[in-house]
Amino acid sequence: MDNDIERILVAEEVIEKRLDVIAARITEDFRHEETLQVVAILKGALVFMADLLRRVPLKLEIECLNVASYHGGTESSGQVDFLDQKLPDVKGHTILLLDDILDTGRTLQAVSAKLMEMGAKEVKTAVLLSKDKVRAAEVEADYTAFEIADEFVVGYGLDYDGKYRNLPYVGVLDSKVIKS
Ligand code: XMP
Repeated sequence: MDNDIERILVAEEVIEKRLDVIAARITEDFRHEETLQVVAILKGALVFMADLLRRVPLKLEIECLNVASYHGGTESSGQVDFLDQKLPDVKGHTILLLDDILDTGRTLQAVSAKLMEMGAKEVKTAVLLSKDKVRAAEVEADYTAFEIADEFVVGYGLDYDGKYRNLPYVGVLDSKVIKS
């Protein structure tokens, strides 16, 4: 699996140190919430969520949302589909929305809007990665662990064609692996 990676962009130890910082900020900012409701976007945010939230010693609840925007390739489809039959009850709650990467911005924007429409009091957002680019949807995350260049990355929750999510680092996929 490592052979398919052209270069490591964010090493495991670097991610761990940065998560300490982001988690401390989140802990401080949400310390007055009686219960913080966290909503993670599956499947990409799984690894980020697990490692981040174990560093946040607050009383919190975890919900997950199944959302699709990539459909297996390396280009965003431009459409955000909500795949769950039943969405979490967010009415009146402050939500911390987690995603793996902010790319075109469509996913964070669509999910934040949906949560507000469902009655959330406030939606704050945290992403592991943010691509440095002009976004199709005007949105920025409240907490960003790493800014990266506009290239396709895998690992630490991010996939290509369903694979590489379990790599402990973020890396750039070798172009020979990408199906044309
Ligand atoms: P948008 O464009 O809506 O994208 O901000 C968010 C979702 O698109 C996926 N995405 C990627 N997945 N490598 C991936 O494995 C990437 O470089 C990449 N860029 C975007 C991801 O699912 C994210 O939640």
